[in-house]
Amino acid sequence: MGDKGGEFMSDIPCKRVVVFGATGQVGMVLSRELKRLGHEVLAVSRSITADNRNRLEALEALGVQLHFQPGLKDVDRLAAALSGYDVVVVALRANVRLVEELEPPILEAAVAAKVRRFVPDEFGTHTKALDYGVGTLFDAKKRFQERVFASGLEWTLVFPGGMFDYFLPNLRLFEKITTFGDLHCLFPTHSLHDIGVISARAITDPRTANRAVQMYANVVNQEQLMSGLKRCWPDYPFEFEHISSETILYLKDHGDPDRISAKGGVEPDRERHGINYANYVLGRLASLDDPGTLNANDLYPDHVYQKPEQALADPRFVFGKTP
Ligand SMILES: NC(=O)c1ccc[n+]([C@@H]2O[C@H](COP(=O)([O-])OP(=O)(O)OC[C@H]3O[C@@H](n4cnc5c(N)ncnc54)[C@H](OP(=O)(O)O)[C@@H]3O)[C@@H](O)[C@H]2O)c1
Repeated sequence: MGDKGGEFMSDIPCKRVVVFGATGQVGMVLSRELKRLGHEVLAVSRSITADNRNRLEALEALGVQLHFQPGLKDVDRLAAALSGYDVVVVALRANVRLVEELEPPILEAAVAAKVRRFVPDEFGTHTKALDYGVGTLFDAKKRFQERVFASGLEWTLVFPGGMFDYFLPNLRLFEKITTFGDLHCLFPTHSLHDIGVISARAITDPRTANRAVQMYANVVNQEQLMSGLKRCWPDYPFEFEHISSETILYLKDHGDPDRISAKGGVEPDRERHGINYANYVLGRLASLDDPGTLNANDLYPDHVYQKPEQALADPRFVFGKTP
């Protein structure tokens, strides 16, 4: 590895990578890191909007090419855009409808364009190691995985554990400091920056062809995180709320299938409680015992991860500003 003119060059030869959802949380950090590693990146977006304009400008400033396609369902037009690329990554806002309606035409286009590797919209709970029936979003992701495995394309699944923003206590994405299910169940959690860095390396790495990659650096439980928060902000009058395992179990089957009630949520309530069930009741956010899953700690032992304690001590992380 080496640095050349400020741009970090990896040992892996330059790849041509398409990122669907490049203006999103995962897509943005992933695209930035891919460029930093010297890869060529094409960002696919539906259109320029007030929400994504700044991010599209930032991507362009990094040298990312842009392709706009409203609807993302025209397979021929998608295939023409993907032609000549090595890797297609999907990091779209995931809900059941989008996984079922948008990922199949993207996969079809990738096959038609003879792309080498496909990286489906995962980036969360280790769905490959889960049984069907745990949650509606995971079932949709698993059904799509089966299509990817049967497509004849090389694939990589990236499972980063939980993003700090959703898994560490904070008041930016939650109205109160909220805990869920089993406070002792262990899970890995990482900053968005680290998720971008490791994902960029994993999706272009020859060792990860037809493998899942599990990030597993910061392994914590909610009780430790609560203690960490109170240590950092001993005088702040936090309000707390606990969502019990019984409530999660009920809402994963009977929660509103359309309403999004969480402050920082993008998934409807029923889907969100399916996610909570897997992560905080079953303790299955991550899996290292799935055959074919590689541990990112072994693949990239040089990477230094941001720690949960650092985020919890940062007022911008916990409050969005100085309290
Ligand atoms: N591990 C974790 O803790 C964690 C947390 C959150 C998400 N995730 C997972 O990470 C993956 C990516 O999620 P994300 O949060 O990065 O996505 P996101 O930021 O919510 O959205 C990514 C992009 O998807 C496009 N998009 C939004 N709504 C759409 C729609 N209705 N139809 C088509 N495209 C739409 C937008 O791009 P344009 O406007 O440019 O088209 C958006 O910038 C998902 O699989 C999600 O489940 C994991």
